[in-house]
Amino acid sequence: MTALAGLPSRVTVYEVGPRDGLQNEKAIIPVEVKAEFIRQLLAAGHRAVETTSFVSPKWVPQLADNAELLALLGEQPEGVRMPVLVPNEKGLEGALMAGVQEVAVFGSATETFAQKNLNRSVAESLEMFRPVVDRARSEGLMVRGYLSMCFGDPWEGSVDPHVVAGHARTLFDMGITELSLGDTIGVATPGQVVALLGSLGQQGISVDQLAVHFHDTYGQALSNTLIALQHGITVVDASAGGLGGCPYAKSATGNLATEDLLWQLHGLGIETGVDLDSLVRTSLWMAEQLGRPAPSRAVTALSKKD
Ligand code: HMG
Ligand code: MG
Repeated sequence: MTALAGLPSRVTVYEVGPRDGLQNEKAIIPVEVKAEFIRQLLAAGHRAVETTSFVSPKWVPQLADNAELLALLGEQPEGVRMPVLVPNEKGLEGALMAGVQEVAVFGSATETFAQKNLNRSVAESLEMFRPVVDRARSEGLMVRGYLSMCFGDPWEGSVDPHVVAGHARTLFDMGITELSLGDTIGVATPGQVVALLGSLGQQGISVDQLAVHFHDTYGQALSNTLIALQHGITVVDASAGGLGGCPYAKSATGNLATEDLLWQLHGLGIETGVDLDSLVRTSLWMAEQLGRPAPSRAVTALSKKD
């Protein structure tokens, strides 16, 4: 283990496998398997696990068992974040009934993806979130925001960081408590990450309000993460085994694998509280459930180590 100057001593790994990973599976995973997956993630030491989405079951049938899943999981452990995605008031209603303490609204930086993912323009989707954020905050919930396609979009090409920062400002003005910057199709390179953090800074948004959410399509997720950490980010989204994608962006592949991230962070002496070996066992177990190997390099390496 060798530390590098200018990095945080601790990073919160925000695990999105059960949501971003399983929303993209062709087969419907039994709800008991999802619950066991989440239990194992918590047992490995995760303190932030995005469990599911309260979206239209017509749009994402894979997560239609949201309420049943949360009921199976029972009371949320103390000090653990277990957010769910909600796009609208109907979703928030379901999430509140299920007793969640944090929700996430998910906007798009680009018009084409807003239409494909939310069936409305960027401005209309932000307006759809306003009453959701209002009510969630007044009920005492934390509200994460996402912006997708922050760096590049399969239909529109490269994305202007000033445009992203403008939408980010709108979301913070509504009352979100954290914003995750989504590289939905994994095209970003480190210079773009620095440029976006700079544009967000110009909008008065500081790194301690931000998280990064990299998909690993072009193998850039870890480089992008390291540069983000060097610029003060301390919340990093990742998915156990590298599962993931988005049903409404075919070019989205898996998220940054949590195991690959832990290998880097722990190698740099950065604490996460998550046990890598337990997580590898979980991802191997999940790969058996899904009937194919986990895309994570670290899972592959560590499962063959002897
Ligand atoms: P719409 O068709 O415009 O909505 O979709 P609608 O209001 O006309 O409703 C259509 C039907 O869905 C109605 O049912 C509603 O009741 C129902 P019907 O009357 O036809 O029987 N409905 C709902 N049911 C349950 N829960 C709800 C809900 N809302 C409506 N919350 C809508 C608009 C936003 C609903 C739709 O576009 C949608 O659900 N989109 C979600 C897409 C999604 O989940 N994408 C993946 C997550 S985003 C992502 O992965 C990116 C991220 O990882 C970051 C990154 O990588 O960049 C976060
Ligand atoms: Mg994603």
